[in-house]
Amino acid sequence: MERLILRDIPNFHRIDVYEVNGGYAALRKALAMSPAEVINVVKKSGLRGRGGAAFPTGLKWSFMPKDSSKPKYLVVNGDEGEPGTFKDRMIFEKNPHQLIEGTLIAAYAMGAQTVYIYIRGEYLKWINLLQTAIDDAYARGYAGRSILGSNFGTEIVIHRGAGAYICGEESSLMNSIEGQRGYPRVRPPFPAQYGLWGNPTTINNVETLTNVPLIIERGGEWYASLGAPALPGILLYGISGQVNRPGVYELPTGMLLTELISDVAGGVRGGKKLKAVIPGGLSVPVVRADEVEGLRMEPESLKTVGSMVGTAGIIVMDEETDVVKVTARIASFYHHESCGQCTPCREGTGWMAKILHRIERGEGRPEDLDLLVDIANNIEGNTICALGDAAAWPVRAMVRKFRDEFEAYIGRTRIVERALSSALPEPLTVKG
Ligand SMILES: Cc1cc2nc3c(=O)[nH]c(=O)nc-3n(C[C@H](O)[C@H](O)[C@H](O)COP(=O)(O)O)c2cc1C
Repeated sequence: MERLILRDIPNFHRIDVYEVNGGYAALRKALAMSPAEVINVVKKSGLRGRGGAAFPTGLKWSFMPKDSSKPKYLVVNGDEGEPGTFKDRMIFEKNPHQLIEGTLIAAYAMGAQTVYIYIRGEYLKWINLLQTAIDDAYARGYAGRSILGSNFGTEIVIHRGAGAYICGEESSLMNSIEGQRGYPRVRPPFPAQYGLWGNPTTINNVETLTNVPLIIERGGEWYASLGAPALPGILLYGISGQVNRPGVYELPTGMLLTELISDVAGGVRGGKKLKAVIPGGLSVPVVRADEVEGLRMEPESLKTVGSMVGTAGIIVMDEETDVVKVTARIASFYHHESCGQCTPCREGTGWMAKILHRIERGEGRPEDLDLLVDIANNIEGNTICALGDAAAWPVRAMVRKFRDEFEAYIGRTRIVERALSSALPEPLTVKG
């Protein structure tokens, strides 16, 4: 398939190369349409957010008030803090102008006068590349006060994150831009009503917006015809872990997981057998090797094994992977990243990490596995933001799907305990 996001054209990140290859034509086309028409085309395309929650993009845009006198904002989420997810950085590197063009079209459709691009602070190389691309877009009249001579204008500002996973969550992200502590906000009110500084705001992922110029150029029906009907379009699959060719691959949605692992990523490293896959970034439930056959990277198919597409960050684990160690590591990550605002997440992530590390050290108790599932159940759905769910799902799925391996660790503890107690000398009895 012809690549439409990670284009195979040398120096495509440069504005002159982008323009020669049809760049910014979609912006011109969008400006000749009404904002409502633009939103309708995006609705027709079936585009869903690529930030993890897969919310329909056109519908989200339509929530922005049309008659508000308040300033409106568009925020581009490039925080990319989810372990196993590394596709947005490829867009910053290979195709920043398509992101800028998509952002400008979105800003026009929603009447946003200011765009903040929130980018992961560690992405220094890509921040510099993006700033150059933005400066070039301004110089050619694509951004700024009167875009291409129209009466629409918008300013684009880069905002660097400071290394907190929670600040990728849209409401913490807004607090972070405002200079506040990155605590998630209670919803409602939703960002379209009460976002940045209390004004109407929409937050979209980098990859989501990079698809928009294609949709405007080729039409909503064309985009909707690609890939899987429940999640149409093009997807950037980030494949990592124990495969021969890890990387970011652009393909239609709904690809077979087996095909992605074997053909696209070159198979499991060292000719080993597959043990498990986390299909959509660290927070989605794991899939066992015996469940993988016939599974497609689309919501309906992954639902049959209790998992999700998430960010399409596919983490592959081979037969030698110690899932107990992996789960303990996962739990530590979420414990470290929990902002501490909600009790179930603040306490629960810590308890899960503590129990898992105790099992890993060989000090597990038989009741620990049910306790872990119970803690996960008590976090899920009981927090202000979805970090709680993101912490609960992978731990619960690992314990449920690999229970025998956790039991083996705990069983080993029991054997050592019994051996130790039988090796103890008999207590001394004093005769006489
Ligand atoms: C803890 C947490 C971290 C998140 N991190 C990101 C992120 O780095 N990038 C992103 O686009 N979305 C992230 N999200 C999802 C955003 O809250 C939001 O749904 C998304 O940016 C919306 O864009 P979309 O509709 O285009 O997907 C995160 C969510 C949570 C709960």
